[in-house]
Parts: sequence; C-alpha cells; structure tokens
Amino acid sequence: MTVDFVCGQRVPLLPVPNLKDTLDRYLSCMKHLLTEEQFNKTQNIVTQFGAPGGVGELLQSKLTDRSENMANWVYDYWLNDMYLNNRLALPVNSSPAMVFPQQNFKAPIDSLRFAAHLISGVLEYKTHLDDRNLPADYARGQLAGTRLCMEQYYRLFTSYRLPGPERDTLVAQESSVMPEPEHIIVACKNQFFVLDVMINFRQLNQRDLLTQLEKIVKMADNEEEQLPPIGLLTSDGRTEWAESRSVLMRESTNRDSLDMIERCLCLVCLDDASGPELSDTTRAMLMLHGGGLTKNGGNRWYDKPMQFIVGADGCCGVVCEHSAFEGIVLVQCTEYLLKCMIGSPSKLVRAASVSELPAPRRLRWKCTPEIHKLITSAADKLQRMVKNLDMNVHKFHDYGKEFIKKQKMSPDAYIQVALQLGFYRCHGRPVSTYESASLRRFQQGRVDNIRSATPEAFAFVKAMTEGKNSTSDTEKMELLKGAITAQTSYTRLAITGMAIDNHLLGLRELAHEMKMGKLEMFKDEAYLISNQFILSTSQVPTTVEMFCCYGPVVPNGYGACYNPQSDHIIFSVSSFHNSQQTCSAEFVKCLVQGLRDIRDLCKHWRFICIIKCLHHLCCQSV
Ligand code: COA
Repeated sequence: MTVDFVCGQRVPLLPVPNLKDTLDRYLSCMKHLLTEEQFNKTQNIVTQFGAPGGVGELLQSKLTDRSENMANWVYDYWLNDMYLNNRLALPVNSSPAMVFPQQNFKAPIDSLRFAAHLISGVLEYKTHLDDRNLPADYARGQLAGTRLCMEQYYRLFTSYRLPGPERDTLVAQESSVMPEPEHIIVACKNQFFVLDVMINFRQLNQRDLLTQLEKIVKMADNEEEQLPPIGLLTSDGRTEWAESRSVLMRESTNRDSLDMIERCLCLVCLDDASGPELSDTTRAMLMLHGGGLTKNGGNRWYDKPMQFIVGADGCCGVVCEHSAFEGIVLVQCTEYLLKCMIGSPSKLVRAASVSELPAPRRLRWKCTPEIHKLITSAADKLQRMVKNLDMNVHKFHDYGKEFIKKQKMSPDAYIQVALQLGFYRCHGRPVSTYESASLRRFQQGRVDNIRSATPEAFAFVKAMTEGKNSTSDTEKMELLKGAITAQTSYTRLAITGMAIDNHLLGLRELAHEMKMGKLEMFKDEAYLISNQFILSTSQVPTTVEMFCCYGPVVPNGYGACYNPQSDHIIFSVSSFHNSQQTCSAEFVKCLVQGLRDIRDLCKHWRFICIIKCLHHLCCQSV
C-alpha cells in the first residue's frame, strides 16, 4: 500500500478490496433479508457479474487504476452519492445537530454573553486551523493508535454547500496571499447581520463581541427595518432552493448579501424562546428544524457547515451541513469550544469603547412577489416537516459501556446487537442497517458502512424472541457471542477499508462513467433493498455533556444515534409520523427491553459459570 504525506501527517491511501471477497460478503449480508426466490436470482446475477473475464473484473481493474492515480478513489463518488446528488431538504433529512446542555440564562444578556464566548472560542480555534497546528487525532477503540487524516477539520469554517439544479457543489474557500478580514453572520429574528471579527487590524475580544451582539439585537427588534425570512429558502428541497437562489441572484443587492453569507466563517443564530417544555426530545427537534416559521425555522441558513444556535431560553447547540465533515470532527471542535467557555468569565461586561466599533450591517434583500411566494412555499414544507418528525431522546441509565467491557465485549458491537434485537422485537423482521465506520485512517477518508444486520445477529434475535422459552441461556449466550464477534469483525473490516458498500458504489459509478448502461447487478431488487437503510445508526460519543441527533434516511425508517458513556447510554431515535410502519417511542421501548434482556442473559450466564466452577472445584477437592 502506498503511503503519502498529507496535512502534515503520514496517512496511507484507501485500498481497493478484492472483488470476490466483496461479492461473497454482499451475498452473505443479504441472504436473510431476501426471500428465497429473490436470493436465488441475486446469486445468479452476482455470479455472472464476478465471472472470470466478466464485467466485474473489468471494472475492478479500472478501479485499481483509479486508486493508483487519486488520493482517494471513492471520495468524489461517495460525496455525490451520499450528499450532493440528494435532492431532499437539508433540515432533518441530512443535517445532524449537537444538542448542548440546557443553559440557565437568567436575563437576555446572559444568552449574548454565551454567544460572545462561543464566537471567541471559534476565532481561537480558527487560528489553530490557520496555523495548521491542530494536534493530530489518533484512533481509539478497535485497532487503536493509528494516526487519522485531519483534512475534514479544514473545511469546518471554510466551505459552503451551493445548491444546484441537479447536484450541489461543496465549495471550498481557497486561502489567498492577502486574506480578507473575516466575518460571522448573526441571525436574529430571521434577519441576517454581518459581524466583522477584525476591525482596524484588531480581532474583537469577548467584550467587543458582546457589544456588537447587543447592537444586533436592537437592530433586529426594529420592526420597520424587518425583511422577509429569506433563510427559509435554504430549508427547501435542493432543486427548489437552487431555483429560488437563481431568482434572488437577479438583483445585485441579493447577490451581495448571498456573497457575504457564503463567505462567512459560520452562523450564530440568536433564537427566540421556543415554548415552555424543553425536554431533551424537544431540544433535539428544535435543533434539527428550528420549529418552523412560527418559531426559529427562518433564523437559519442551512448551506453553511456550522450554525451555532443560542436560544434565549437556554436551548443551544450546533446544526451542521454534513457534506463537509463527519460527526466526530464536529464533536472534537464543539468540545474545544465548550471547554473554552467553561474557563471564560461569566460576568462579561460590554466594551467601554462602544463608539469606536462600527455597527454590524444588516443584509438587505430585494424581494419580488415571486420570491415572497417561494418563501411561503418553503415555509409550508418546513411546517410539514416539523409536524412529521417523530423524535425520542432516551437516556438509558441501567448501565453503560463499563458494564459491557466487563463482559469482555465491544460496547459498540453490543449496542448494535441490541438495536437489532429492539428492531426485531418491534417489527418482526431484520432490515438493511447502516452503521457509519470512520475511514480517517486513510487519506481523505470519510466513512463506509458496517452492515450490522448480520446473519449471526439475526440468529440471536430470533432466539431471544421467538425461541425465548425453547432456547437455553447457554445457547442464547453462544448466539450472542457469535453476533458480537461477527459485528466486531465487520467493524474491523470497515475501518481498514475492506467493507463492501464503497466498493460496490465505485464499481457502479465506473460502469456509469464507461457508459455501460445500468448493469443487472445494480438494477437488481436486492441491491435496491440493500441500500434502503431502514435502520440508520451512528455512534457519536462525547466527553462533554451533549448529544447528537439526526433524522431517518428513508420515509419508513429510523435514525438512531447513540452516545455510550461509562454508566449510561444516550439514544436519539427519529422517524416520521406519516409512516404507518414506524413509531420512535415504541422502538425505544423495545430497545430498552432488549438492552435489559441482554444484560440479564450475561448476568445469568456468569452465575451459571460460577456455579459450574464451584462445582468443578468441589469435585476436585473430594
Ligand atoms: N473487551 C473489553 N473492552 C473492549 C472490548 C472487549 N472485547 N472491545 C472493545 N473494548 C473497549 C475498547 O478498547 C474501547 O475502550 P476505550 O473506551 O478505553 O477507548 C471501548 O471499548 C470502545 O470500543 P468499541 O465499542 O469496540 O468501539 P470503537 O470505539 O472502536 O468504535 C466505531 C467503533 C465503528 C464506532 C468506530 O470505529 C468508528 O468508526 N467511529 C466513527 C463513527 C462515525 O463516524 N460517527 C459519526 C458519523 S457522522
């Protein structure tokens, strides 16, 4: 494997898996998810595809060539397939959020102090990025110790997802010899303000920032100056937003405003209070969609990777546009910021030299009746999304990852098996499952998929449900161990670049580029089923009190994000109300039951082992 030098660190290139291994694995991943008839058909198609001298081998050799000439053979294919080709609206469908601990703001100025601290942390973090001196990350958990690619960090504050009629573009700002002074966009009451962070060659300190934020709040309150909630357009479907954006671009005032937003470091959204009930579930929903037009849904600009939300009611977090980086990078950055803030003075006062600082500028929009109509249409769609999101955040307090480690099992694999058990108990069938596995061990590495619905997990969940009374605990324990081992092995394959999803995507996209028409292999119903991720899961662990959440990726599916802590696990489960097949509360109930059943099984089995051991000792001493 070639080793190259990137981002100041040695990271190897992503390997191309062996064709036969991928095809065999694909069949074994799918067999129990298909009918016998479907599987037999698929097996024939796969055999033909992989036949010596056949299409598969031709594509594989092209893919190998590609891997030798690029930093990462799957990067573009993956980015387009996962994000840029997707036409669905970003909120809920694509942009995840981190929900911060609930803040206790006693007075309106407290929320502005919080925002000033946060911005100050962003500026400090950005300096590390600009100086390229962010400490390198190393893998933890499975195959720990490997150096990880740092590339994603450099897109946190420098990229923008530009909507396109058929495909979006991830625009990266190039660093220039004479960089322009940087700015942040502050959203307040659906208005957008330019907050220059460098004035007269001096970076604003926290007191200056507080002063500027206070001015923004006053300006936003001025009803005569208020402009329509243009930000709603960014919550629309991507094709619709691309069209609205081209309508906006006809006016030079709008072009200038768009340009300021597209080139900002990040957004800070000063949200109004959202209502009395601020449970974890409500806060997660508010982060994902802002609560629609009647709440803070228009106080957003979804194309920008980092939008920090500071609610007057203490509901705070960050929403991120996902195409630029993964949740783990987002967590690392956010934890840095929150840790900075813990050390900041809580009694920050405004700067004495207020008059020296020019007031932040309100972004102007020229809105034709056509634009007003487009905003109304986007608001309606967002409102439907708000109503449709069925969210359930559950803090499972019975045990956490330390208990699982004591069972000598991988906590991640264990939780995945519990998710399979929960789903099966709820729905009585196994489904294609996605678990994101980091590929940052490789240059430009993003993620591949751990297909957690393994045949071994299926055997275990059946024994735990249908065979509850007919299967002994010893047998169940053997099946559990088998399921954990299968999951752990798949994880190791995935994080070392040997999983099947990216590989199959690479072969499919090459066939498309080579104008081979749609191959049977990728037209096959099984391939479509394999990509319908009814269960879309991800581990996003944190060391600071906060949690991640995101929406389902298919209309009849669940998004299930989990954050394992030493003595508890936080689950954020999402689905859509308009699906007859799903219910987040029911799924959480089954998941909790599953976690308890597995714990009881482990404990009971340990008890049996101790008894056997004692019995053995007794026999020996007699
Ligand atoms: N016995 C005892 N302890 C064990 C164990 C065993 N058999 N197997 C693992 N452990 C320990 C590990 O050493 C590790 O310890 P640490 O907490 O001290 O580091 C801990 O348990 C966690 O390991 P594990 O649960 O196996 O998972 P992991 O940390 O390796 O994570 C993935 C697995 C797949 C989640 C991870 O590799 C990954 O890819 N993460 C990125 C996911 C992602 O991208 N999310 C965001 C998407 S937007």
